Amino acid sequence: MTIKVLLINGSPRKEGNNSFLLSIAKEKLSNNYELDEVILQKMQQSACTHCDACHVDNRNNCVHTDDTNLLMNKVTNAEILIIATPVYWWAVSAQLKLFIDKFYSKVDLFQKTEKKLALITVGGAELDDPQYRIIDQQFECICKYLNWEYLFNFNATAYEAQEIAQKDNVINSFIACLDESFI
Ligand SMILES: Cc1cc2nc3c(=O)[nH]c(=O)nc-3n(C[C@H](O)[C@H](O)[C@H](O)COP(=O)(O)O)c2cc1C
Repeated sequence: MTIKVLLINGSPRKEGNNSFLLSIAKEKLSNNYELDEVILQKMQQSACTHCDACHVDNRNNCVHTDDTNLLMNKVTNAEILIIATPVYWWAVSAQLKLFIDKFYSKVDLFQKTEKKLALITVGGAELDDPQYRIIDQQFECICKYLNWEYLFNFNATAYEAQEIAQKDNVINSFIACLDESFI
């Protein structure tokens, strides 16, 4: 059975740096993995309101009539998640935060299901900026809480859209990172 990988693009820029890195991942993994991709900018996601309806009678579904349940079902079906986000104000993009918050609706299921998570974080600032450590710790905590394996967090510096495409050293280390974690 082919392993299912869900690629999650948290950037609103269609031709952005995260999209570029995800396209490399798609190219590298497409032969050996079953790939699915979501571009969060294109999805309707309302913010979690902590209404807790999802936890009543083990419904595990969000009551909001947006794309939340579709997205969470994709997470349920995937064995590996590759999440890519730009750094916005020392944090993940709003689109990605909306998505992660909705993990709440299926938290019991997610905690019982083995998954692996890889993160891509692109910011304009240099790699010694605390933002990369802050985001890394957030995902370390999320994976620990959900009992998921945190595969890697690939950080890169780029500001203009597609700037990363000019950075051969970044591309090569991203490919090496993929090679280490994926067959
Ligand atoms: C609203 C906003 C906030 C940003 N905040 C940061 C930040 O805190 N740190 C940083 O390094 N870059 C910041 N940036 C720059 C982006 O992270 C950078 O341009 C990145 O390459 C965007 O990724 P993308 O091309 O995949 O969209 C910000 C950009 C925007 C639009």
